[in-house]
Formats: sequence, structure tokens, C-alpha cells
Amino acid sequence: MAIKFLGTGFYVPERAVTNDELSEMVDTSDEWIMQRVGVSRRRVSTYETASDFAFYAAKSALESANINAEDLDLIIAATISSDTVCPTVAGTVQSRIGAKCPAFDINSACSGFLFALDTAVSFITRGTAKNVLVIGAERLSKLIDWTDRSTCVIFGDGAGAAVVTSGDGYLASTLYTSGGNQVIEIPAYVGASPFYKGEEKKPFVFMDGQETFKFAVSKIVNDIKYVTEKAGLSLSDIDHVVTHQANIRIIDYASKRLGIPREKFFVDIEKYGNTSAASVPIALAELNSSGLLKRGETVVLSAFGGGLSSAACIIKW
Ligand code: UT7
Repeated sequence: MAIKFLGTGFYVPERAVTNDELSEMVDTSDEWIMQRVGVSRRRVSTYETASDFAFYAAKSALESANINAEDLDLIIAATISSDTVCPTVAGTVQSRIGAKCPAFDINSACSGFLFALDTAVSFITRGTAKNVLVIGAERLSKLIDWTDRSTCVIFGDGAGAAVVTSGDGYLASTLYTSGGNQVIEIPAYVGASPFYKGEEKKPFVFMDGQETFKFAVSKIVNDIKYVTEKAGLSLSDIDHVVTHQANIRIIDYASKRLGIPREKFFVDIEKYGNTSAASVPIALAELNSSGLLKRGETVVLSAFGGGLSSAACIIKW
């Protein structure tokens, strides 16, 4: 059905912030962060924007796909941390790579890349696009309260991208939203209207970690089972699992509950932390460039997060 992957790419900013460095800023320790989350360092922007990350990841994905920007029919970027509401991240990338196609952003928080990928599948299936560039890009460091130890140790910046085209490698998918849920909340800039009398909240990430954890483990397991069954496959047919890199304990739990060996789960959370919509495409691009991913193999992608939302798909590489 619908698509195959032509190429992938990713980009992370140069500045790595270690757990020891964070321990000097808030009351935390390398031991706590490694044990409870599994992150040892994260990349943090010092001057680049989410659009800059998206541009570098896009260029790398185009090179890997061996196609020119003029051959793209659509660009979709998933982000919650664009530095401008308008122009969009996708539109900025379109102009910088020299593409001529329509481009737009979507927001489904940490599940955003998989929502964008499924949207790309719809365009390709409808025949209105052949080659689509799908991006997940975040500068989450601007949405973090760097005095809050419950969030500042978790997140990181970066972008991942994939070029997809018509093919038969998208076997099944699922998208889920539990709307208006404030388990994870990031208030936007309230504005300066003299008429608005509503509450003004700080524009930083608030996350009820334990509630999110419960949601994540239940969705990751059920979504992966669902797409595998829908594709007419069994869990033992899966060669690689690429999930949202939110917490190493969530990945360990999913491996045990699903009975899928842990070595089939690609993990890079230790190096980059949780990069929200960029997390799955960065991991997919790293897996692809490692040479471990072979044509014809079965890969499951799974994400969960703000919204609350979750998404998964099963693909033939
Ligand atoms: O991307 C969206 C999806 N996000 C997720 O899936 C995240 C899911 N949730 C999690 O990964 C975990 O819940 C967290 C990593 C966010 C938190 O881990 P936890 O094991 O659930 O910790 P907790 O919130 O229950 O806190 C346990 C203790 C508390 O102290 P007390 O009350 O037991 O004395 C916290 O104050 O750990 C304390 N704590 C910390 N200690 C040292 C919280 N953050 C830190 C910290 N360093 N950075």
C-alpha cells in the first residue's frame, strides 16, 4: 500500500549538555537521570532554530534518497517548537532547498512525525503527490523551564527527515488522540491584547510524568500489536522497532510485554534525550545509516506523547 522510503537524514546541534552539567544547575544527578530516564546527554541549540535543524536534516534525506528538491511534490513538517508561527518550518525548508511544492506544518506533539507520515500516505494514495519530504524538527530547549528538574533533564533538540514515494511498503497504521488532555501541556504566548482577560501561563513544558508513563506503556504495546495484526503479521515477523525515545524504561517494558527481543529496539535516547516529533525520524535515520536496516525487512514505528496522542505504523523497508 501507498509508499516506500527512498532516504532518511537527521541533524542535531553541536552543543552537548551532560548530566553533570545539569547537576550544577538543578538538584539532580547523573545516576538519577540514567536510572530513571536513560539519558546521559542531550544536544541543545545555541543559535540555530527548528527550521535550521529541519533544513539540514532535509538536505541529508534528499542526498540519501538521491533525488533533487525540484522532484518533491509536498513537504510536511511536524513540530511544536517552530521559531515562527508563520512562515512554517516546512515552508522555510521548501525555500532553502529550492523546492517548488506546497509545504505545511502539523502539530501532534511527540507523535507528530507519524501523523505527518500518514498524511503523506494519503496524498500519495490519492495521486496528488509522488515524492514527499516528511520532517520532524524541534528546538524544545526554548520551551523548557531550565529551573525545573522534572523536565529539563529529559528533552533535547534536533530534526529527522525521510523522503517517501509511491510503493507498497506501508502495511498498516493507527492514529490516536485523547483531545484536550492536560497531562502534558505547553501554553502558547498569550498575546498583548488589551481586551483579553484570560489566564496567562508560562510558555514552558508541564508534564505529569507518571500519568504520561502509564499512557505511554499501554499505547506502545497496544498500537504495535494492532498494526502488526492489521498487516496480517505476527510479532515475531518484526525485524526492527523504532519508538519515540522518551524513557529507556518504557522501551524495556514494551520489549518484555510484547516478547520482542530488546536488541530489535533501536535506542539513541542516551545521546539525544527526548526530541519530541524529531525523535522517531532521528532514530530511523540513525538505524538506516548504520547499515543494520536491509531492504525487505519489517519495521514498526511507534510514538506517543502530548495531546495525549499516539501513532504507529508497520512498514516493509
Ligand atoms: O515525550 C512525551 C512522552 N513522555 C513520556 O513518555 C515521559 C513519561 N514519564 C517518564 O519518563 C517519567 O515519569 C519521568 C522521567 C518524567 C519521571 O520519572 P519517575 O520515575 O516517574 O519519577 P517521579 O516523577 O515519580 O519522581 C520520583 C522522585 C520524586 O521525589 P520524591 O517525591 O520521591 O521525593 C521527584 O521529586 O524523583 C524526584 N525527581 C528527581 N530527582 C532527581 C524528579 N526529577 C528529578 C531529577 N533528579 N531530575
